[in-house]
Amino acid sequence: MTRRCALVTGGSRGIGAAIATELAADGHRVAVHCRADSAAAKAVLDALPGTGHALVTGDVGTPGGARGIIESAVAQLGTVDVLVNNAGIYAEQPVATTSYEDWQADWRRVVDVNLLGPADLIWHLVDHLRQRPQGPRGARIVNVGSRGAYRGEPDAPAYGATKAALHSLTQSLAQSLGPLGVAVTAVAPGFVRTDLAESMLVGDAEEQVRRQSPLGRIAAPSDVAAAVAWLSGERAEWCSGAVIDVNGASHLR
Ligand SMILES: NC(=O)c1ccc[n+]([C@@H]2O[C@H](COP(=O)([O-])OP(=O)(O)OC[C@H]3O[C@@H](n4cnc5c(N)ncnc54)[C@H](OP(=O)(O)O)[C@@H]3O)[C@@H](O)[C@H]2O)c1
Repeated sequence: MTRRCALVTGGSRGIGAAIATELAADGHRVAVHCRADSAAAKAVLDALPGTGHALVTGDVGTPGGARGIIESAVAQLGTVDVLVNNAGIYAEQPVATTSYEDWQADWRRVVDVNLLGPADLIWHLVDHLRQRPQGPRGARIVNVGSRGAYRGEPDAPAYGATKAALHSLTQSLAQSLGPLGVAVTAVAPGFVRTDLAESMLVGDAEEQVRRQSPLGRIAAPSDVAAAVAWLSGERAEWCSGAVIDVNGASHLR
């Protein structure tokens, strides 16, 4: 059987690295993508189970970035059957204490990376899928959203807004890409112990975060990766349009 090919954006660390590892263990050939830290991405790549993986770099938040990322993944792997839009940034921007210049700059950068990046990557992926000999059927797109879209992000409103928009984009595209046989889903993780979240775990905060979940622990990247790997599979077609909570029952909706 032909091995399926997956592109994981932001695969150089944190949740993306765990997703790349899980997909490789499931038999995929994986393109590990990062923005700038190719040494970290290479270390993830070298540790992946199996062979035939690839390294892709590029800023998802710049015009042209998405095209280059899809083109590079397709050139190295031959195609992309699974796109995991995981790369994302978080910006602290409390409205009452942030200058207007910083407020504007943060909004634009977060929208560029967290929302326009995935939208552009999906456009270029669909363009590729429609042209490939076997057609688009069976492809999967999994977007990494956030619990913050539902619970609110009082000190990071652009982050919360872009994740809510990414969930909405997931649902719209699940409808528009269904006729092509492409399933589109999202996960909405709660707090996960990664570089992005580490600064929020200082002092008493760590215990408070642990208590958010009745399971009494803080999530590891592998907790999210397990859900993404399942959604990436061919058997997950009927989940299309779903935004799956991966938050240890810390926020129920
Ligand atoms: N950690 C949490 O608590 C949590 C909770 C809910 C949702 N999430 C979401 O999960 C995803 C991964 O989070 P994480 O905690 O694993 O983050 P992380 O440890 O900060 O890693 C972020 C990854 O994204 C890449 N990246 C950042 N900006 C980029 C850009 N402009 N273009 C291309 N790649 C870029 C980074 O590449 P470089 O290393 O090259 O910069 C890195 O590989 C994000 O979408 C985040 O919003 C995280």
